[in-house]
Amino acid sequence: MHRENLPMTPAAPGWTAVCAVDDIPPLGARRVARPQGMAVAVFRTADDRVFALLDRCPHKGGPLSQGIVHGDAVACPLHNWTIALVDGNARAPDEGCTPAFACRVHDGQVWLDAQQLATHALDLPAPLAGPCSKQAGCA
Ligand code: FES
Repeated sequence: MHRENLPMTPAAPGWTAVCAVDDIPPLGARRVARPQGMAVAVFRTADDRVFALLDRCPHKGGPLSQGIVHGDAVACPLHNWTIALVDGNARAPDEGCTPAFACRVHDGQVWLDAQQLATHALDLPAPLAGPCSKQAGCA
């Protein structure tokens, strides 16, 4: 997350407002659907920092948006891997990474990079566990 004093207007070029910070439960997440590809999970920490990751655990595709945030990481609800919110990396001894998305907060609104939303991580296979959607390639 980048908390900046941006010269943002409600229609900042290149950024898409997805929700208010207060729409995200503390220590939880909100899912942002995309026209293509899997949803993005937007997380809120105890001190109101906001991060965005693909809603897909690097282990077996569990729904990270349903995990619990602790510190600057989220615990996957399926097998309890710990995923760093800043870069999506699994904490040792586990290995793997889920794609991270650029995220900004301005005037209480969460903004995601519009280009990334449209193009980032569209080619990942459907998860082996967790929620399905047509976008994820499930029946
Ligand atoms: S799917 Fe997330 S820990 Fe296994």
